[in-house]
Amino acid sequence: MRTLRHGLPLTSLFTGAATVGALLLAAPGAHAADPPLRDLAAAQGKVVGTAVTSSKLSGTYADIAGREFNSLTPGNAMKWESVEPSQGSYNWSAADRVVDFAEAHDQQVRGHTLVWHSQNPSWLTNGNWTPDQLRTLLHDHIDTEVGRYKGRLASWDVVNEAFNEDGTLRSDLWSDNLGSGYIADALTWAHAADPGAKLYINDYNVEGVNAKSDGLYDLVRSLKQDGVPIDGVGLQAHLILGQVPSTLQQNIQRFADLGVDVAITELDVRMQLPSDSGKLTRQAADFKSVVSACTAVTRCVGVTVWGFADSDSWIPDVFDGYGAATPYDGDYQPKPAYSAIAEALGGTGDTGGGDGGGDGGGGTPPEGCTAAYSVVNQWNTGFTGQVTLSCSGASLSSWRAHWTFGAGQHLTQAWNAGCSQSGAEVSCANASYNGTVPDGGSVTFGFNASWSGSNPVPEVTLG
Ligand code: XIL
Repeated sequence: MRTLRHGLPLTSLFTGAATVGALLLAAPGAHAADPPLRDLAAAQGKVVGTAVTSSKLSGTYADIAGREFNSLTPGNAMKWESVEPSQGSYNWSAADRVVDFAEAHDQQVRGHTLVWHSQNPSWLTNGNWTPDQLRTLLHDHIDTEVGRYKGRLASWDVVNEAFNEDGTLRSDLWSDNLGSGYIADALTWAHAADPGAKLYINDYNVEGVNAKSDGLYDLVRSLKQDGVPIDGVGLQAHLILGQVPSTLQQNIQRFADLGVDVAITELDVRMQLPSDSGKLTRQAADFKSVVSACTAVTRCVGVTVWGFADSDSWIPDVFDGYGAATPYDGDYQPKPAYSAIAEALGGTGDTGGGDGGGDGGGGTPPEGCTAAYSVVNQWNTGFTGQVTLSCSGASLSSWRAHWTFGAGQHLTQAWNAGCSQSGAEVSCANASYNGTVPDGGSVTFGFNASWSGSNPVPEVTLG
């Protein structure tokens, strides 16, 4: 889907007998935990994305990827060496898995990447091609891959890392054999294969105003003048702690002023290991300034992090002695950088002490406030549930609801609350706009979950 469908109102369809059970509430905290990042971003009209490793999309990794982000970029699964490891023999399984997951979680997909100097299959790089043959191979590759996902991807990083640091065109397989025109050709072919996808040129070290971003700027301006279908510029933003360019927002703005969108496509902030609390605080400030630079510019569509957890980051493999570059640690606990992203997206930065989706809480729920759980729609593999909190003779200023799915049910999506599931335990906290349950009033939130075998009313627990 090209449009975000997150946050749909709860359907009140009943297809089976509704089940109702009691739920106790945790006490109100000092202030509300934030809803997931994707809800904060959506409220700003922005995308918050993550690169994902296709093979890891289960368990906690999948829970966080689905809950926190409204856009996914396959970290490697769509690269040429992944999809066509030997000539004419395609393997789409990893890429398909990311796209299917995204559609099941109402997420956009950012295709990455079609034309690059790196991660090409050896049959391609070692082949002895004439320029005409290479041009045909590239055209076919773009046509096949973009065509396969036509209508399903929001955007494509069509050309990746085409520039040298001095702003001249990089010498590589493509420019050496096809000349500089390969960029316009690739964009034109991609547009023909999926006219609805937003087409980007993407690079690193182009975040600030510098010689390299000047080269990119000149190219984008001339592509626009020539009527080449280019929709956006991707700033990778693989940054070093404390080195967010001071001209980042100015640079985003100048590209926007050319009439293209801008996306931060691969944000990470690496530090020399070991990390410590001072570095993590500094890192949070860096994440916040990058996300804020994007929210400040209308045509900056959003920010994607290059892996959301330190255990899934490319940094330690490539930059010796560096790591801890993402918003979650290796145990999937949110770091200060997570809260900083939330704050830059308009949240309070309060993670609720859990994994970013709400956990903890504690205390005694006020008498007079109750919660009712019901299954409002159930089908073969899934169901829609809702929880209504009602107060009479009392009120809540912020709330959390917890339960245990005792029969293997698994939360896939929630609205009007930030929910997370860890094992069988589900924890939900109010969204920014419905933390108050007034005396004599009620608040309802909803969720989708999977089930098989049976779908009993959850056991009630205190949060
Ligand atoms: C990285 C992946 O994250 C690694 O798993 C892989 O080994 C190398 O590539 N710029 C890009 C990304 O555009 O595709 C790169 O991804 C990181 C740098």
